Amino acid sequence: MYKVLARKYRPTKLSEIIGQDIAVRILKNAIDADRLHHAILLAGPMGVGKTSTARIIAKSLNCEKGTSSEPCNECESCISITKGKSVDVVEIDGASNRKVDDARNIIESVKYPPLKSRFKIYIIDEVHMLTIEAFNALLKTIEEPPDYVKFIFATTAMEKIPDTILSRCQIITLKKIPTDLIKIKLKGIAEKENVKIEDGALDIIAFASFGSMRVAEGYLDRCIAYKPEDLTQSDVSRVVGVSEKKTIEEYFSDILSKNTSSALSKLQLLDERDANFEIFVRQCIDFLLGLQDVVLEHKTALLNIYYTALIDIKQKVEPLSVLNVATHKASAVLSLEQVESIIEKLSNMEFSDIPDNKQNETVYDNGNSAAEESKPEKKETSNLQSTDSSELDENVRLILKEFEGKIITVEKLNK
Ligand SMILES: Nc1ncnc2c1ncn2[C@@H]1O[C@H](COP(=O)(O)OP(=O)(O)OP(=O)(O)O)[C@@H](O)[C@H]1O
Ligand SMILES: [Mg+2]
Ligand SMILES: [Zn+2]
Repeated sequence: MYKVLARKYRPTKLSEIIGQDIAVRILKNAIDADRLHHAILLAGPMGVGKTSTARIIAKSLNCEKGTSSEPCNECESCISITKGKSVDVVEIDGASNRKVDDARNIIESVKYPPLKSRFKIYIIDEVHMLTIEAFNALLKTIEEPPDYVKFIFATTAMEKIPDTILSRCQIITLKKIPTDLIKIKLKGIAEKENVKIEDGALDIIAFASFGSMRVAEGYLDRCIAYKPEDLTQSDVSRVVGVSEKKTIEEYFSDILSKNTSSALSKLQLLDERDANFEIFVRQCIDFLLGLQDVVLEHKTALLNIYYTALIDIKQKVEPLSVLNVATHKASAVLSLEQVESIIEKLSNMEFSDIPDNKQNETVYDNGNSAAEESKPEKKETSNLQSTDSSELDENVRLILKEFEGKIITVEKLNK
């Protein structure tokens, strides 16, 4: 029977877990020194190794060859845990067993010692889905379980777990896996599966999987199903919905040359081709980060626009509309002036040039100018005709401070 790559290549010992050096080290030391906490919470984004790590911990504790951070994976206990069939390792899906009655069942079963192994281990996945009543019911058991019991919780949303539970667990955080490590694992899988795939194609999958090894392996599955041999960059781009580098470059070349309508029609085309716009925005951000020949203010403003677009898309706002708006905003940004040139213009400007300028009144009145005026030593910062350049600089500084580095046109500033 065909087994999806993510399952076939599930790590079987701690040394096979990639990109989680700190978590692995903490666990390895704790297991080998026999100091593993009785309640462990594995927290982190999806597909980074929580369930795999939980099973490895269970195997480490119950391996027939003795407790070790490198379980043998051959004994009956190890094999049954790998298959999810060990009588002493109870795997519970928190999402479908979230009620207080489910918690009571756990509390009841904790009373019975393991049948075959050293420990009775409860792995509760997506534990944040438990109701508050279920958490409360479990509190005492989690705090002081029998010696033969270990709890291993896994969650993608630690913030949803009550503090009362968190404070009773050893929290181990797993992180997104770096792109280069994802690529190395993908390459190894492709070799074992006898699939030829271009190096650049592996880069595309690794980039598009946002730090999740499971997502990466899922993409590789889809690519192999699409074309079992000689996978090229363009095959993979099509399957994954990633745009080719050239497309991103041409899109920004339109924006930089203020050809907005051409940029918009490229988006339309991508939409028709089923491009993944979340990946597209991330590619835009990547491209902008690497952009050299654009002034810093414009680069920052453009990055801001695409980060906002990314957040909107993640919050399920219709992606094509989000990107159309971002494209308009990006084109507009490039028409704005740089702060340096504004300073330059302001410093060369006679203040009488500024319309609606009220004589003898500070531009940045802090509300107590009447009291201030009575002070003889008060400096006439309001003397806008002043030829003293340091005073002018001061005014320019005040104006810029007010706008806090925002990119603004000189016309707007004059208002
Ligand atoms: N750190 C990792 N090192 C190696 N492979 C990994 C790692 N993380 C995930 N994988 C791969 O992804 C598959 C799924 O991983 P796992 O089920 O452990 O993730 P998870 O964090 O529990 O995900 P979810 O939050 O979606 O339940 C594994 O079978 C393995 O192939
Ligand atoms: Mg999991
Ligand atoms: Zn074993």
